[in-house]
Amino acid sequence: MKITVVGAGAVGASCAEYIAIKDFASEVVLLDIKEGYAEGKAMDLMQTASLNGFDTTISGTTNDYSKTANSNICVITSGIPRKPGMTREELIGINAGIVKTVATNLIEHSPDTVLIVVSNPMDTMTYLVHKTTNLPKNRIIGMGGALDSARFKYRLAEAIGAPMSDVDGIVIGGHSDKGMLPLTRLAGRNSLPISKFLSEERIQQVLEDTKVGGATLTKLLGTSAWYAPGAAVAGLVHTVALDTRKMFPCSVMLEGEYGLNDICIGVPVILGRSGVQEILEINLTEAESAKLAESAEGVRKTNGLLDV
Ligand code: LAC
Repeated sequence: MKITVVGAGAVGASCAEYIAIKDFASEVVLLDIKEGYAEGKAMDLMQTASLNGFDTTISGTTNDYSKTANSNICVITSGIPRKPGMTREELIGINAGIVKTVATNLIEHSPDTVLIVVSNPMDTMTYLVHKTTNLPKNRIIGMGGALDSARFKYRLAEAIGAPMSDVDGIVIGGHSDKGMLPLTRLAGRNSLPISKFLSEERIQQVLEDTKVGGATLTKLLGTSAWYAPGAAVAGLVHTVALDTRKMFPCSVMLEGEYGLNDICIGVPVILGRSGVQEILEINLTEAESAKLAESAEGVRKTNGLLDV
């Protein structure tokens, strides 16, 4: 199993690290345009192998896509991250060009790959990859919902005062501060509804804190987060690589599901070796459906800025 991660910045390096720690891949290739940078990160990570007990080989390359040839899974993290006060949507001008070039290069050397898009604005970048490559739609996955759901669970566990493994929750919709939709109605603690533990007011607070999860970190760190994004990607990669058919909310191309067409937005999917194996349609309330439609409008507005 060969996996390429493009972008050896904080998110890309965290992806590589978490993939390696899970110890299921034979090879991870890190690629970056900055001379020597991916090589350095790869060497540093390889020096953790004996300490962390993994046998995955991590190598780095400066923009040489031939080194990525025949990857089973490729992850695109390249582009600029947001700075405090910026929205993910404001990154489109620079990141669209980068993501298009990276996707084209990757597919040229790994025509059978599954592609995972992380660069922001992620739903629009995933849409761009669909429009600029000829990959079947099941092989393009946008990573956002897995991260947002992890942030939701963090806030739920914190609010309830429960251990993390007790809580469950899912976030659908666009990967944006305004557009994401934590499904509080379906969230639970070991199958019991969260309303048993939290007041309506506290649930609203969890919802609001989840939506600005990324922005809160950007403000604290001065740049966007990397540990949870990296771990979320590693979770998707693991599921695809081992064909475990786990369910994650991911940004995928919709063709009528949820009443939406020609748009990539976060919905629950089953992932396996071929990428997206199934899009799950859950019954939403009228209010939730209206919010998803509103979120989709936001994503469409950003898609409208693309030159495709
Ligand atoms: C975040 C970035 C990865 O939400 O979009 O932290």
